Amino acid sequence: MRIEGKEYKTIWFENNRVKIIDQTKLPHQFIVKDLKTVKDAINAIKTMEVRGAPLIGATAAYGLVLSIIENNDQSFIKKSAEELISSRPTAINLKWAVDRMMKKISGVNSAKILELAKNEAKEICEEDIKFCKNIGINGLKIIEDIYNKKKDTVNILTHCNAGWLATINWGTATSPIYHAHKNGIPVHVWTDETRPRNQGANLTSYELNEEGIKNTIIADNTGGILMQRGQVDMCIVGTDRTLANGDVCNKVGTYLKALAAYDNNIPFYVALPSSTIDWNIKNHKDIPIEERNSEELSQMEGLDEKGNLKKIQIYPKKSKSMNLAFDVTPAKYVTGLITEKGICDASKEGLKRLFK
Ligand code: MRU
Repeated sequence: MRIEGKEYKTIWFENNRVKIIDQTKLPHQFIVKDLKTVKDAINAIKTMEVRGAPLIGATAAYGLVLSIIENNDQSFIKKSAEELISSRPTAINLKWAVDRMMKKISGVNSAKILELAKNEAKEICEEDIKFCKNIGINGLKIIEDIYNKKKDTVNILTHCNAGWLATINWGTATSPIYHAHKNGIPVHVWTDETRPRNQGANLTSYELNEEGIKNTIIADNTGGILMQRGQVDMCIVGTDRTLANGDVCNKVGTYLKALAAYDNNIPFYVALPSSTIDWNIKNHKDIPIEERNSEELSQMEGLDEKGNLKKIQIYPKKSKSMNLAFDVTPAKYVTGLITEKGICDASKEGLKRLFK
């Protein structure tokens, strides 16, 4: 998608380096950063220079490529794989991508290993683009239906950033929105700020602006009253891990939006590529929920009056704060799952129908 009119993807490989857009600096500074070693890739995932379930999976895949360039010894690669998987715990795409890479390269001791790894990482990225595009085409029908009934702007609420910046291109939750916009359907997006890291305000609003899509940033607790006032036609969010029973783990606060949508009879959709499905965990209580540094809550970053990026303390220094990064929305509150293969119920039967 576009930044200042120029087409970008979120990650690419060039001259034995991985190129990323440093998302910790957006929307104020656009910086393309080089990852030269597997440690750089791990650090980029941990510090959220790259973030969003599909993108951290792709970064981990390219992290393994960097690891092979450094040292193609199998024990070094295995250790890199373990460190990459544990760099963030909740999004299943990370393990999915590393496992897929390891299946290709484990036990390969010849010079072929680097080529194999590069091809597989590229394939993971290309597949994600294709899947996210299909999510858009499938989700477009839902927006079209609402528009055909309403004959007026479709108001869509989203939480966090499940946009193209969280994937390789298109995004998951935003892909149906981009497709609707390209098809001439008037859309407007309510963008949850998404405290504490403000991915909604800093990233979703930024990328929608760059594509010329109308959007309004709202404080995280505003969605409920907008729904009561009839100002939300539908919600679409992304997910970091969807269980085979349709329970959805996504950015903290998603659950409360789903409850409000349910109470107000507003469709609540979750968009995901199949790489985000965890077929193994049976109970959502077993999903590892990331707890991040409490300073993400107590400090905020923005531009000072001179236009420099500056971090400031916003809470009493003595106060304790807690920073759980994800929550789980039970399947019963989810109207449907928009996947690359079509739309299904958030249930075991629904997912089985699409993914045999
Ligand atoms: O902590 P983040 O910014 O990595 O969380 C991202 C989300 O919660 C997204 O909604 C999710 O990864 C889906 S991305 C298409």
